[in-house]
This record gives sequence, C-alpha cells and structure tokens, in this order.
Amino acid sequence: MSSTASPRAVPALDLKAQYRTIQPEIDAAIRRVVESQFFCLGPEVAALEAEIAAYCGVAHAVGCSSGSDALLLALMAWDIGPGDEVITTPYTFFATAGAIWRLGARPVFVDIEPDTYNIAPAQVERAITPRTRAIIPVHLYGQAADMNALGAIARRYGLKVLEDAAQAIGARHHGRPVGSLGDAAAFSFYPSKNLGGYGDGGLVTTPDPATARRLARLRIHGMEPRYHHHEVGYNARLDALQAAVLRVKLGHLPAWTEARRQVAARYRALFHAHDLTDRIGLPIERPENEHVYNQFVIRVPETLRDPLRARLTERQIGSDVYYPIPLHLQLCFQALGHRPGDFPVAEQAARQTIALPIYPELSEEAQAYVVATIAEFFEEAAPETRSPAIPRPHVLGEVPSGAAPARRGRNS
Ligand SMILES: Cc1ncc(COP(=O)(O)O)c(C=O)c1O
Repeated sequence: MSSTASPRAVPALDLKAQYRTIQPEIDAAIRRVVESQFFCLGPEVAALEAEIAAYCGVAHAVGCSSGSDALLLALMAWDIGPGDEVITTPYTFFATAGAIWRLGARPVFVDIEPDTYNIAPAQVERAITPRTRAIIPVHLYGQAADMNALGAIARRYGLKVLEDAAQAIGARHHGRPVGSLGDAAAFSFYPSKNLGGYGDGGLVTTPDPATARRLARLRIHGMEPRYHHHEVGYNARLDALQAAVLRVKLGHLPAWTEARRQVAARYRALFHAHDLTDRIGLPIERPENEHVYNQFVIRVPETLRDPLRARLTERQIGSDVYYPIPLHLQLCFQALGHRPGDFPVAEQAARQTIALPIYPELSEEAQAYVVATIAEFFEEAAPETRSPAIPRPHVLGEVPSGAAPARRGRNS
C-alpha cells in the first residue's frame, strides 16, 4: 500500500489548465482572425514577428510553419548544402540534425557536457575541418548552451552559429536573451513549448537584414514579389490563427517563465528535504544562465530508470524520456558510421534521464506527491543505491530559502 496520499493524477503537461486561465483572450483572438479572413501570414504574423524580435532583443524575426522548418530555412539562407559540414549535438530532438541532412550537408556530432547536457565547446573545436560551415548549439530543456565559448570559436574559424532555441524562449545567457546570441536562432511553437501554439509553428530570429529577407522569401517558394520566383523554396508559412494565439500567450510568457522557475525551485527543495540528492541528479543551472525549464530532467542510475518510470505511471504521474536514442545511433544516420561509445556522455544521459511534470500551473501539492512517490520508490526498491555517475549535490545549487518543507515528511 502506498504511504503517499495522491492528490489526483499528475500529467506530464496540462495545457487545458493554461487555456482555462486565458480563455476569453484566446477566444477573442481566434474570432478576430476568422472575422478578418486573413489566414496565412498577413498582419497577425507580422505583429507577432515584431513582438518576438523585441522580446528577444534582435532586429528581425521571420515566422514559419514549424521549428523544424525554421532550422531548415536558416541553413538554406546561408546556402549550406552538399559538401558542407555542420557541427551539432547528438543529444537533441531529431529536427536539429534532420535539417542538416535534408539539405545534403553532413551533421558532425560532438559530445555534450555532463551537467547541462549542452554541446561541449572543447569538442566542437576538435571537430572543425575545412568543410565546416556552421555550428548548431541546442539550448536543451530551456538552458542556454555556452554561447560565449562557441561564439569565440565561430569567429576564429569564420563559422555561422544557428541557435536551436526551440525549447528555450525567454532564457538568458550572461543577461542576454536566447535568439540574440548567434547569427540566427530557430524557435518552435509546438504546443508543449514554453510559448506553444494550437498546432505547429516556428520562427527564425536574426540580426542580419539580408538573412531575414532571404528567409521571408524561402518560406513562400522563393517568391518576391508575387509570382516572381528567385529560387526554389518551400511552403513554410505561419498561420494567422497560430500567430494570434501566440500573441496572446506572449503577453503571459514572463509570468509563466517565473512560475516554471518557482516550480523548479520547489522540486529542488523537495528532493533535498527527502534526502534524495545523492541518489538523483538534479538539473544544474549555471550562474551565467537563466533557465526556463521547458523540462525538469533528473538523472537516476540507469538500472532504476525504467522501474521508476513504471512506478510513476502506476501512481498516475506523467514522465518522459528525452531522448532515449542519441542521434548518432539512429538508423537513418547509419551512413555516418557511428558506433555505441562514440559519444559516451550523451549515451549515458540517454540511459539515465527522466523528465518530470512541469508547467506553470503545477500545484505544490502535486509536486509533493511526485517527489514523495520517488522517495518511496528509492526506499523500497533500492534502499542502498548511491550512484557515482550522478552529479553530486554540491554542484546542484543551493536550496531556495523558505521553500523547504519539513525533512522527510512522507505525506508532504
Ligand atoms: C530542440 C528542438 N529542435 C527542433 C524542434 C522542432 O520543432 P517543431 O516540432 O516545431 O518542428 C524541437 C521541437 O520539437 C526541439 O525540441
């Protein structure tokens, strides 16, 4: 029998809870678009582009059909194609490398840092060849990659930097917003993102007017003006309905980001209070970063990862694994000739990580239930587990003051 009282099911993500808080605004925005009968690009998209450019502190923003297309269009705008190499991380969503491959270029994977899960700049420098054209760092789970180091390398070798900021809108690095840290940045508005639409959507930011103009052309079949085609592009337009929804949500994003950060701080406090920090690796937030916690990802010893997930599922707690198979080991990239062991840090992360429920509306009660369930699992299933593979608590940051519940309160 469980000793942890269940508040109710705790889904990994609850977008209905968010909709309930903004329903009148969303409904009015949708009606506005339907009344206007302007559905593809148009004034709503132009307004969203201006607002996101301002939010990211960058001169240009070009909306498009998805984060995947944002990556693809940005690489196309720089004429990256056959014979070129682009350095990226193997520990990311598929689209990051898919965009490189789709253009006939070669994804060159390098390993990640064990604490942030982001691309390791020292490995990047070693992978540069005369064919290298660009680097795509991913701000994984909502925390910026080491952009200062990567920018310095890129300048030294004359490379472009494309930020994959799909998971990190609103995050900051040395006080500067992601989306303003490279030569261009790709954002996704997939519903589960911190700024999520009601369907697919994406956007590219760039400080460079020539890149912005090319992007705007590439997303409509290389057309400028109407029916004059300079090159073969795509149909990669952003819908006005998505833009209208996203404009409403953008107004709430700073408060939602703050709420996510508080949820993360509460998880940390609860894991400390349950004495779990030498069994579980908590996310590490580097001092130069402001993490926006698109995901709250913990590490556990790999033999316990799947049993712990099973226990969470049994107790109606949502969880997920991002990402179980690193990209260098995906079947479609077999031709790159990689083997298990090539990127051991990414491979270990793929075996050890679990994403816990996180969203701005997540209640304290629900979080306490999640952590108490994990504590109970470790006490019953693995009372002696201590894993040297797990990052030590001393690098995990301080327990936020005032946030810690009573120590080992099993029903907290
Ligand atoms: C890191 C990363 N890159 C790219 C994408 C692709 O975005 P989309 O799903 O909007 O195509 C995603 C999101 O799914 C992502 O998480």
